[in-house]
Amino acid sequence: MFTLTALPQSASKQDLYASLAQQLTGLLHGEPDAIANAANMSALLYDLLPDLNWAGFYFMRGSGLVLGPFQGKVACVRIPVGRGVCGTAVERRESVLVPDVHAFPGHIACDSASRSELVVPLIKDGKVFGVLDLDSPHPERFDEEDRAGCEQLVRIYLDASDMAEGFSGV
Ligand code: SME
Repeated sequence: MFTLTALPQSASKQDLYASLAQQLTGLLHGEPDAIANAANMSALLYDLLPDLNWAGFYFMRGSGLVLGPFQGKVACVRIPVGRGVCGTAVERRESVLVPDVHAFPGHIACDSASRSELVVPLIKDGKVFGVLDLDSPHPERFDEEDRAGCEQLVRIYLDASDMAEGFSGV
């Protein structure tokens, strides 16, 4: 059994992401299945990152994104590349940090409680295989430390996972 360790609320973001990186590395160790790893990573993030109302993945299938494993309320299934925050992160091939989703043109509201969002693309061997999407009910929940921390967590996920199995990369 894998037991997650929560940090006290007073912990710095640096300590929080160092702990998350260590725990995620252990959680995914020896498992190459990209779906299973996305499911466990979503659960870890939803459990241990404060103030989230959604944490999960969209994967590239054909020419667009399709909903993958997540924690939170039911979500929209298909997002075209270039649409919403998720499709924008694929198009730009870089993380997109949205302090206020109401100010982001084209934001797709899956949960009306969401107020800020961070989307990190899954880029491996030069191809985008999907995105990690984090939503918060608080405006300005995410900052540059969260972006860097989540990009590091995505690298751990991509190093562990075989993305060639069943996904299209663009
Ligand atoms: N807000 C996202 C859609 C996915 S949900 O937040 C889970 C977007 O604009 O792409």
